[in-house]
Amino acid sequence: MEKIWQGHLSGKVSRAAESFNASIFFDKKMYREDITGSIAHARMLGKCSIIPQEKAENIIEGLKSILKDTEEGKLAISEEAEDIHSFVEAELIKRIGEDGKMLHTARSRNDQVALDTRLYTRKKLDGIHTLTLSLMKTIAHKAEEYEDAVMPGYTHLQRAQPVLFSHHLLSYAFMLERDAGRIEDTKKRLNICPLGSAALSGTTYPIDRKATAEELGFSGPSKNSIDGVSDRDFALEAMSAMSILAMHLSRLSEEIVLWSSWEYRFIRLSDGFTTGSSIMPQKRNPDIAELIRGKTGRVYGDMVSLLVTMKGLPLAYDKDMQEDKEPLFDSLDTVEASLIVMEEMVREMTVLGKNMEKAAEKGFINATDCADYLTKKGVPFRTAYRLTGELVSWCEENDKVLSEVPLEKYKEYSPLFEDDIYSEISLSTCIEKRISEGSTSKESVEKQISYIMNLVEEKNNGQH
Ligand code: ARG
Repeated sequence: MEKIWQGHLSGKVSRAAESFNASIFFDKKMYREDITGSIAHARMLGKCSIIPQEKAENIIEGLKSILKDTEEGKLAISEEAEDIHSFVEAELIKRIGEDGKMLHTARSRNDQVALDTRLYTRKKLDGIHTLTLSLMKTIAHKAEEYEDAVMPGYTHLQRAQPVLFSHHLLSYAFMLERDAGRIEDTKKRLNICPLGSAALSGTTYPIDRKATAEELGFSGPSKNSIDGVSDRDFALEAMSAMSILAMHLSRLSEEIVLWSSWEYRFIRLSDGFTTGSSIMPQKRNPDIAELIRGKTGRVYGDMVSLLVTMKGLPLAYDKDMQEDKEPLFDSLDTVEASLIVMEEMVREMTVLGKNMEKAAEKGFINATDCADYLTKKGVPFRTAYRLTGELVSWCEENDKVLSEVPLEKYKEYSPLFEDDIYSEISLSTCIEKRISEGSTSKESVEKQISYIMNLVEEKNNGQH
């Protein structure tokens, strides 16, 4: 296929080099953005009388027909083309003839590709933002559904203190709140229009960069044309936000894997989210959670890959930058798919509250509360801590938990122990006594649920 840049080059292009150089295999994903960007550019060229108005209209009509036919599957994007930009331009010329050759006036593929990639990333981030909110909502609903289930809270994967399952699960909604915020921040800097930077130095034509920026929904044109064509920060920021979001999904996945194991039995995944084994008939493998966790590594790799690509690049555009798209697309697609399955998996999982509670009863997770009991009676915390530690050792030797220790035994450790110790160290008291803001008491958890619900509602209504 003849190249759009072939003017002064007459030598034959090597087949190997040609396919090595091509990006159509992956940048064809951006056909919609490429065409929309070109429509805005053509309209501006006409309005500014850089090309005759009726030729601009002809170009716009031609581009619209290409978009329509592509969406309807009537036009296949040929992989013979070098990239999506050359494909659309060649198709336009095929359809409307000479007028089509005017489209590329005052533009270069360098500002064109920067524009397309921004538009594409913006669209994908919007979708991911919505999915993030929807997962937050599902988490809040699940927390509400199992509001009273008590589970051991862990540190170092050792049973630490009792918490409400709803409290534990909600912590992920707060991580996702920050993820949504990171996407919003990324979009602020992404939403600058590079179109009109041309190859690198701008153009001699009297173009109206504000008009194209506005038509394409940007907050304004970029301020420096060299930076306009060389900046890929928006892709890196997007991938950084995706990496952190994937990390959160991965941590939740890891807990789902643990919780659904026979060792824990805290949750049961729905059949749709478990797979059997080809040999072991009892298996309910949490493949989907494992895959979300596994794919996170690739999402990190995507970000690192572009960081390394960009690291030594001299200004302005270098072909290395074509390597931005595969990791960027992969990162966005992977996180998008992970959010979709995670939302459904959480929505459909069953929480086995009784098993959680049984686990919470073991492991001395009320030892802190036992120490606090003495502290409130005037014993210095360090002393109370030591006494309780000794009690725990006695329990371990005698195969008991704190609630089973007779009062006489308690009194051997401190005469301050009274009958109310049993209610003070019961799991429900341990939880309800945690009154500090953000804590695990039911009242606090209910506040957190309504905070998340309201936030999602407001964000969905565009109030943030
Ligand atoms: N396919 C190229 C890319 O993705 C488009 C820009 C090409 N510009 C150039 N001067 N070769 O980056």
